[in-house]
Amino acid sequence: MGSLSDIYSRLPESMDDLPAPPNAEAVVEADFRARHWLSPVRGPLKPGSDAHKRALAEMFRDTFNPYKPSVIDWPKLDPETLHRVTSLPIWDIAVQTEGKARLRMAAYANLVTDPDVKDAISRNAWEENRHKEVLSKMVAAYNIPMAPEPPYVEPKDVEWAYLVTGFSECVDSFFAFGMFELAKRSGYFPEALTDTFEPIMQEECRHILLFANWLAWYRAVMPWWRRPFFEAKVWAVWGFLAYERMSLARTVDDSGQVHTQDNNFTVTGTKEVTNIQITLPEFMDLCLEEDDRRFAGYDPRLLRPTTTPAIARVIRDVGRAWEFASGIFKANAKKAA
Ligand SMILES: [Fe+2]
Ligand SMILES: [Fe+2]
Repeated sequence: MGSLSDIYSRLPESMDDLPAPPNAEAVVEADFRARHWLSPVRGPLKPGSDAHKRALAEMFRDTFNPYKPSVIDWPKLDPETLHRVTSLPIWDIAVQTEGKARLRMAAYANLVTDPDVKDAISRNAWEENRHKEVLSKMVAAYNIPMAPEPPYVEPKDVEWAYLVTGFSECVDSFFAFGMFELAKRSGYFPEALTDTFEPIMQEECRHILLFANWLAWYRAVMPWWRRPFFEAKVWAVWGFLAYERMSLARTVDDSGQVHTQDNNFTVTGTKEVTNIQITLPEFMDLCLEEDDRRFAGYDPRLLRPTTTPAIARVIRDVGRAWEFASGIFKANAKKAA
């Protein structure tokens, strides 16, 4: 596994060599650059073309945010907020997801021969490792009880593992955008804490932007005879994700305590991050708005992930139709009574 951990723990430019932002304005500027990017190339960026492939790699490099997990100043929380944070059923799964993502992305980057794509996916693996570090620092700062991490096993089918991670991020990030905004609006968590996670949220937006464009590029340059098998694999990945999300993850820690983690927390956990009453269709609308907002600063010629927003629109419309139908039913029942 040596070479894979080299990929996710080393940037082409060493993190420690990066100059620390000299002042608060520099931090704001780095944050702005991470959210806005336009390719200087004119004309269309057609998936499969060299211009598109270079653009996806440049976007990923240029929007890099050089924050360091080790210097994050975790805000002091009052006992009630601390309890709210430590009891969220997500921390084990969050740490393990980042651990799996860094390994799977590094494994895939290791196989890629195209230098631009290899560079982008290696950086993505590195950023997943940084997310894991941020979470470990937070877990330590707030003394969050954690289940032991299972061993991270190098995937046998590297392409499958990369697709599972990529599509999972597309689903989780989309709903996390809405959930995060709800948490911010409710004031359930101090601003200093949500501000700390803000660059990570935006980073996930860049990750799924990269994934959507990698996927389009990969499909376009793939030999035609591989395509049917690949599309069957993509369907199988979606099937696997649906199956995975129907279950809760249970692990037992050293002291015999059972940790139950919710794979669907980004959809089902709204009550735990906010006191704002929100219906499912309203939540879907919020996720769609936040998704648009987070992607708005990047070159419109780069593709956006579309499947999860489409699923959200269906959930919203079915939810609205249900609300309408049950409203009529209730009104009729009242009249009849
Ligand atoms: Fe991540
Ligand atoms: Fe990610």
